[in-house]
Amino acid sequence: MKRAWGLAVVAVVVAAFTPAALGQYDPYDPNTWPLESIVNSAHNLNNYPGIDIPLNQVCLPCHVPHNALQAGEENVLWNHAETGQTFEMYYSGAGQPEGTSKKCLGCHDGVTALDSYGGTQGSVVIDPDSKANMGTDLSNDHPIGIEYPAPGDDFNDPNEFMSRGNSLGVRLVSFSGVERVECNSCHNPHNPGLGNFLRAPLEESVICLECHNK
Ligand code: HEC
Ligand code: HEC
Ligand code: HEC
Ligand code: HEC
Repeated sequence: MKRAWGLAVVAVVVAAFTPAALGQYDPYDPNTWPLESIVNSAHNLNNYPGIDIPLNQVCLPCHVPHNALQAGEENVLWNHAETGQTFEMYYSGAGQPEGTSKKCLGCHDGVTALDSYGGTQGSVVIDPDSKANMGTDLSNDHPIGIEYPAPGDDFNDPNEFMSRGNSLGVRLVSFSGVERVECNSCHNPHNPGLGNFLRAPLEESVICLECHNK
């Protein structure tokens, strides 16, 4: 009897320290994935040390309803300073980041101030020791800006052939008429629900298998 109680206590303790997300959703069913507000996420810059945004506006460092810094539908009323850095890419000779990827790097380059928005020059740079500080060397990061193979294309060799993705959350970003892999193919900057603003779960590498036919 004593022993059974002991086991029960162990079971309760183990349950309490298992990461909350595990087992609470089906990695293959997007309808079960957690959708959480940006307000309690790393993308609420009001929570970042040294940053104080008027009226605690969560959206303002990235978007503004009028007089945005970049115009047009691809630019989502963008209100943050652009990165001026030159990046080292995964494929030597690949073009510099564009589109949404360039927007992300306007904070994650480790140089452009987080609080440079609305046309003013900020002063708080992302913590150099944070993993979220990507710097300008993207050569050891998953390639971005690459064109995705068209349906039916044999991509390099048959073993590398990729399925079309998109069904389980990851997406191909249409840019200048072609579909490409960009930061927001794998990340949704608004939803911290799956951790790391991911669009699809890391469980069983579902996020990778969406594009890579392995
Ligand atoms: C840290 C930066 C950041 C913050 C903060 C942010 N966004 Fe965004 N948002 C982006 C980026 C980058 C895109 C374009 C990428 C994309 O479409 O996936 C975007 C796209 C959008 C879009 C168009 C595409 C879509 O996903 O629907 C809407 C609408 C939007 N944001 C609304 C908001 C609102 C409302 C807030 C505040 C509650 C907010 N965003 C806060 C970065 C941010
Ligand atoms: C306005 C500045 C800003 C922009 C633009 C921005 N981020 Fe961030 N992001 C941050 C800050 C600040 C953090 C927190 C860094 C830290 O904890 O050290 C962060 C954290 C993250 C994290 C880690 C989340 C976590 O829970 O620890 C990911 C992933 C991320 N950002 C991806 C993106 C992507 C992808 C884009 C573009 C679609 C983007 N960010 C655009 C400021 C920004
Ligand atoms: C092919 C998918 C993919 C692309 C493209 C991608 N990421 Fe990520 N990113 C991930 C995954 C998966 C993780 C979580 C890694 C982990 O938990 O081990 C992650 C983690 C992060 C983190 C958290 C810190 C870290 O290193 O774990 C940041 C910040 C981030 N990504 C930003 C970006 C930015 C900015 C871009 C574009 C320049 C980008 N990502 C492009 C898949 C991607
Ligand atoms: C949105 C689609 C997409 C997602 C999601 C994705 N990839 Fe990729 N990945 C690509 C494309 C496209 C390439 C470029 C392939 C090429 O040039 O041969 C690539 C390249 C790679 C390469 C380098 C191949 C080489 O020849 O150098 C590796 C490794 C890789 N991906 C692993 C991953 C892993 C691990 C994940 C999950 C964390 C992932 N990918 C998620 C589309 C994706």
